[in-house]
Amino acid sequence: MSARTLSALLFLCLVQVGRRGLASAPELREPPKKIAVIGAGIGGTAAAFFLRQEFGASVKIDVFESGSVGGRLATEDVGGHEYEMGGSILHPLNLHMKHFVDRLGLSARAEVPTKLAFFDGKELVFEESDWFIVNFLRMLWRYGLNSIRMHMWVEGILDKFMRIYQYQQFGYSFTSAEKMLHALGGDAFLSLLNQTLEEAMRSHGFSQAFINDVVTPISRFSYLQSVRLHALVGAVALSGTDSGLWAVDGGNKKVCSGLLYNSKAELISARVTSISLKTRPSKTGSVSSLYEVNYVGESGSAHSLYDIVIVATPLHQGLSDISFSGFSPPVPSHFPGRYHTTVSTLVQGVLNVSYFDPARAPGEFYVTDIFTTDKEELGVASVSAVNPVHIPPGHSRSPAGRSKVWRMFSNEPLSEEQLRTLFVSRERVLERRWLAYPSYRAPERRAPPFVLHQNLFYINSIEWAASSIEMNAVSARNVALLARHRWHGQTEKVDQEDLHARLRGEL
Ligand SMILES: Cc1cc2nc3c(=O)[nH]c(=O)nc-3n(C[C@H](O)[C@H](O)[C@H](O)COP(=O)(O)OP(=O)(O)OC[C@H]3O[C@@H](n4cnc5c(N)ncnc54)[C@H](O)[C@@H]3O)c2cc1C
Ligand SMILES: *[C@@H]1O[C@H](CO)[C@@H](O)[C@H](O)[C@H]1NC(C)=O
Ligand SMILES: *[C@@H]1O[C@H](CO)[C@@H](O)[C@H](O)[C@H]1NC(C)=O
Repeated sequence: MSARTLSALLFLCLVQVGRRGLASAPELREPPKKIAVIGAGIGGTAAAFFLRQEFGASVKIDVFESGSVGGRLATEDVGGHEYEMGGSILHPLNLHMKHFVDRLGLSARAEVPTKLAFFDGKELVFEESDWFIVNFLRMLWRYGLNSIRMHMWVEGILDKFMRIYQYQQFGYSFTSAEKMLHALGGDAFLSLLNQTLEEAMRSHGFSQAFINDVVTPISRFSYLQSVRLHALVGAVALSGTDSGLWAVDGGNKKVCSGLLYNSKAELISARVTSISLKTRPSKTGSVSSLYEVNYVGESGSAHSLYDIVIVATPLHQGLSDISFSGFSPPVPSHFPGRYHTTVSTLVQGVLNVSYFDPARAPGEFYVTDIFTTDKEELGVASVSAVNPVHIPPGHSRSPAGRSKVWRMFSNEPLSEEQLRTLFVSRERVLERRWLAYPSYRAPERRAPPFVLHQNLFYINSIEWAASSIEMNAVSARNVALLARHRWHGQTEKVDQEDLHARLRGEL
């Protein structure tokens, strides 16, 4: 049994232990009365779920959402079927997501075989075969042991990351992403933020050809950024080629609406405009602070007071515009750093196979995912044949000679000319522009803390380590734990080091 399978099993046992443990914990102070969560993406809805778990049935939880529930998990209708436009791929070891799907009575979408190819602007430099052994030999012939070593390198990082589930199950939380990463894997882990993916892999002896032909296309597909992003988020990108990837049947955003319902939180369809700090004397004579959340909804503007506020949207230009008043030190509306523009384009049509491989008959082209290298000049990072969020019965894979739904990721909206090059014919074209994830660099800037004020927390800071559905759920759990510890004035489960050694053998 691998260390990861073991971690997964451990987690499942601990979910049970953890819940019982909580019920008997001594209550040190009245629970909070009202909590606000700003944003109903996976971060905000997972926070609502975990906050309910930490604070019990009596607290009122309001979730504010100015757009639609799901946020960056969103689908579009093409010809009567829904397709993912944003976050779409989950890893088999995304344990919070697995747990949510189980708890909410959802299931994983039926698996459909995929076939990956890498394109350098002129030709397909690698094409997966249906046969594992053929892939293995092709990779071995072209890149020696690089491919196997890449999986081992990524697995080593993932193994350390997996410790977070055990820490969280025992109630441990962290006030910043740096402290969390350090507790997971020490200086070596944290220094992944200081190197580019390319530097890290070069220093581990990976060949430049392998990095250019294989690593770069995967990185471009996942974050629309080349191998100059930092090595931690790079490893997350590379884990996206592991086997067993999955998605939620009916659409990933179903988890968000399910968590909202399960948490018995109230959804307020409004845009939060500002948060101000208010103080009032309490019965015991001390002064307690409250947060006034101001918001604009359909019926005009209003405000409410909360004991705890969780910000579950990136505090960056173009993503949210919340002003904070009365805080010292001040809390900025926007933190430094920007989010990367990714355009997601869905085309129902017939692919121009000769653009990728002039020698191939379209009826024999079964590739489902084409990832491009840095040499590609058309301006598309990836072209993927996508499946609807629910696989209809009798669905089978068809060659590119037939009309299918394809999804492209690019930095700019695709022009008529680009589309004409990529497709022989088009029936429908749909486009969505995202500020998708941070624009990464190395060394990466220090991420903002998870704690913005005594009981004011920020989930999306984690995205500077890596932005993904699971990472934001991990951050939501962390913030819910942190909120409880800080509410009760407990410090022994915050920012602890050497947890791995201390928890070894605990169950
Ligand atoms: C194109 C694309 C592809 C991706 N692919 C993957 C993938 O394959 N796998 C993966 O794991 N991850 C992927 N990701 C990343 C993943 O989708 C995100 O990391 C994750 O969904 C972020 O969730 P969140 O809840 O933290 O933020 P969001 O989903 O952005 O939620 C924030 C919510 O807050 C709301 N909001 C903002 N300001 C206010 C305000 N003032 N008042 C009220 N509400 C407000 C917004 O409307 C939004 O709904 C992808 C992202 C994109 C864009
Ligand atoms: C990363 O680099 C910063 C400066 O850019 C430095 O302060 C920090 O100590 C480095 N961290 C590690 C773990 O190497
Ligand atoms: C398809 O690709 C080929 C090769 O790049 C190009 O010459 C042609 O114009 C493209 N479009 C169509 C509709 O064939």
